[in-house]
Amino acid sequence: MNIIITGGAGFIGSHVVRLFVNKYPQYKIINLDKLTYAGNLANLKDVEDKPNYKFVKMDICDFEGVYKLMQDEHVDGIIHLAAESHVDRSIKDPFTFAQTNVMGTLSMLQAAKLYWESLPEKWEGKRFYHISTDEVYGALEMTHPEGIKPPFTTKASSGEHHLAYGEKFFTEDLKYQPHSPYSAAKASSDHFVRAFHDTYGMPTIVTNCSNNYGPYQFPEKLIPLFINNIRHRKPLPVYGKGENVRDWLYVEDHARAIDLIFHKGKIAETYNIGGFNEWKNIDIIKVVINTVDRLLGRPEGQDMDLITYVTDRAGHDMRYAIDSSKLQRELGWEPSLQFEEGIEKTVRWYLDNQEWMDNVTSGDYLKYYEDMYAGR
Ligand code: NAD
Ligand code: TYD
Repeated sequence: MNIIITGGAGFIGSHVVRLFVNKYPQYKIINLDKLTYAGNLANLKDVEDKPNYKFVKMDICDFEGVYKLMQDEHVDGIIHLAAESHVDRSIKDPFTFAQTNVMGTLSMLQAAKLYWESLPEKWEGKRFYHISTDEVYGALEMTHPEGIKPPFTTKASSGEHHLAYGEKFFTEDLKYQPHSPYSAAKASSDHFVRAFHDTYGMPTIVTNCSNNYGPYQFPEKLIPLFINNIRHRKPLPVYGKGENVRDWLYVEDHARAIDLIFHKGKIAETYNIGGFNEWKNIDIIKVVINTVDRLLGRPEGQDMDLITYVTDRAGHDMRYAIDSSKLQRELGWEPSLQFEEGIEKTVRWYLDNQEWMDNVTSGDYLKYYEDMYAGR
């Protein structure tokens, strides 16, 4: 197959590109990325010289460019990750999110439609796989702030002991109720993908995944930002009371799920991806502090005094919790890492890759960061 992976220079995209390039030497993998502040080719140093890998710097909104690339490369599959992905940025600049996430996805869909429809075999052997988020479902109530034992028999990445903070979970049949400009734009793009299946018969798949963590995540997101701040003993800005709940999945487990679903998923289906691994922000922050301290040889917990409660995020969703039992049942996917192992690997990676961190935190990003947290 010849596959375009959009957003391959970003956090999740780089793990997907790496997995596909290494696992499928018979495929041609084309990484299409605009290289925004979040795209970084240093994330792919280890695969850039492989013969089955090609990078193309392109905006997904460039419909004609994408259409020509599909023709030139005889593309049969698209794994679409390119997006603006940070909620706080979407609150400040919703237009960019609508442009990239909605219009960019539409441009990819329309280019694929025109190219695939022009072929004698049409949709045969083709696939448009759209990567989305659990945030499109909105927020779940925290009916059990003290935590309850989750009712799952499926494998969880949180270990037997871990708790759920409500009875309800995001399932694939829930109606969309996005709250942030980011999730509204992602929800809109999901609707367009399904509309291309329902209207034109395009072979599409959509997956909605929970919060990812792991190496190469841009340090504006909670876990890498906090690891870096702890290292440099800078304040840790905790939004509100730190009680919001997120469901965390190690990024390589997401990439493995994408590989499985791209090859074995049913056309027109939606699959939720998550590891049944709910954490209150403040609890995860304490785990991260203890881990960084221990790995840096500081007394464990010494840096708890960096925790700084700041004004809450506008419209801050209370709880996300994914029910991924359909994926586990139908395709046999399971998270491979327990959270404790995943967080240890992640902290160790950021501490060992200070040069990567220094590169991405310099220049424009620093200025943006200072503006964003000015006065906090
Ligand atoms: P990211 O912000 O780290 O990377 C986004 C990539 O897209 C960057 O390489 C960037 O250069 C590229 N990009 C942005 N605009 C572009 C454009 N107009 N044209 C071409 N390329 C462009 O994002 P991420 O965290 O890796 O997320 C990837 C996808 O997964 C997104 O669609 C996101 O909604 C989804 N997702 C993310 C998470 C998460 O926890 N990070 C969870 C579920 C789903
Ligand atoms: P984030 O990593 O931005 O992911 P998302 O908003 O997509 O879930 O944030 C994860 C959680 O951490 C979210 O509840 C907001 C909170 N948060 C903070 O408390 N402080 C911060 O500096 C950041 C970036 C996030």
